[in-house]
Amino acid sequence: MQLLVLVFWFCLTITIIATAAATTNTNNIAKPGCQTKCGNVTISYPFGIGPNCSINPWFDITCNTSFSPPKPFYGSRELYNVTNSTFRMGNTVASRCYDQYGNITENIFAYTKMGNESPFTFSPLNKFTLISCSDLTIFSDPDQFTTGCLSLCSSPDDVIGDGSCSGGGCCQTSVVKGLKYYFTMTMSRTYGRDRSAIWKFNPCTYSFMGEPERFTFRGASDLIDPNFKTRVMATVPILMDWVR
Ligand SMILES: *[C@@H]1O[C@H](CO)[C@@H](O)[C@H](O)[C@H]1NC(C)=O
Ligand SMILES: *[C@@H]1O[C@H](CO)[C@@H](O)[C@H](O)[C@H]1NC(C)=O
Ligand SMILES: *[C@@H]1O[C@H](CO)[C@@H](O)[C@H](O)[C@H]1NC(C)=O
Ligand SMILES: *[C@@H]1O[C@H](CO)[C@@H](O)[C@H](O)[C@H]1NC(C)=O
Ligand SMILES: *[C@@H]1O[C@H](CO)[C@@H](O)[C@H](O)[C@H]1NC(C)=O
Ligand SMILES: *[C@@H]1O[C@H](CO)[C@@H](O)[C@H](O)[C@H]1NC(C)=O
Repeated sequence: MQLLVLVFWFCLTITIIATAAATTNTNNIAKPGCQTKCGNVTISYPFGIGPNCSINPWFDITCNTSFSPPKPFYGSRELYNVTNSTFRMGNTVASRCYDQYGNITENIFAYTKMGNESPFTFSPLNKFTLISCSDLTIFSDPDQFTTGCLSLCSSPDDVIGDGSCSGGGCCQTSVVKGLKYYFTMTMSRTYGRDRSAIWKFNPCTYSFMGEPERFTFRGASDLIDPNFKTRVMATVPILMDWVR
């Protein structure tokens, strides 16, 4: 099997302050006088909707009533739910697509930045995922952490579609505790393979962070699925840890 999946990992200066275990309870209630629900989602203190409803501006949630039912947002990301120590929010997926000659036709980066002072970090229960047969992607907060995935395959037969990300076409790597910022950077790498042959079954490379339990790798059909990005954005949230 002409298949090489190489995961490399190098930690630059790791200056991560471990966040203490969450000791606050949300108890499923909002501050008195404040809205408890936005559509189907319970927004409990210290999060809050509207002026003076959250503990501080980091915990401000907006409720967009132009959706039915209304949807809560943290900044520009949809908020799916809040627990005593976590919340789940909408995702962003990076993509790099090629034409049959190997020219790049789309190159969209993904990043999420919480801000150094924010009480939120990406949960280490998330994973970074790369879907590709020809590329290398770096996931990095250059001040703290850099990791990456390389996934190469020569034919759809190299891709295992049993739901897990464990063979050709899919590569996952861990998220370090305490991370508040990441971006993706994809580099075209075929290591001698024929780009136009790969293009026929894998025209785009995708990369994202998110909850691995929510992502099912469907094998070769994912490599050619034009709705792949839409599906991941709609179904794979980013899990955040928070402390008051
Ligand atoms: C938070 O913890 C409290 C106390 O353990 C519990 O009553 C409450 O239901 C929890 N809230 C959520 C949203 O999990
Ligand atoms: C919201 O809750 C209602 C009633 O429980 C349910 O029918 C509906 O499917 C939910 N909508 C979403 C978007 O989860
Ligand atoms: C928010 O609370 C502060 C202090 O309690 C008060 O001075 C201020 O008027 C409140 N703002 C709003 C918009 O209610
Ligand atoms: C609510 O969502 C709609 C549709 O995405 C958007 O056009 C609008 O700007 C949003 N409103 C607010 C207050 O963010
Ligand atoms: C939050 O959402 C996740 C994923 O949608 C779900 O598995 C979990 O049960 C939800 N938790 C609560 C407290 O609603
Ligand atoms: C695409 O690649 C071909 C072959 O290398 C080249 O001749 C062509 O100019 C490229 N087209 C664009 C739009 O870059």
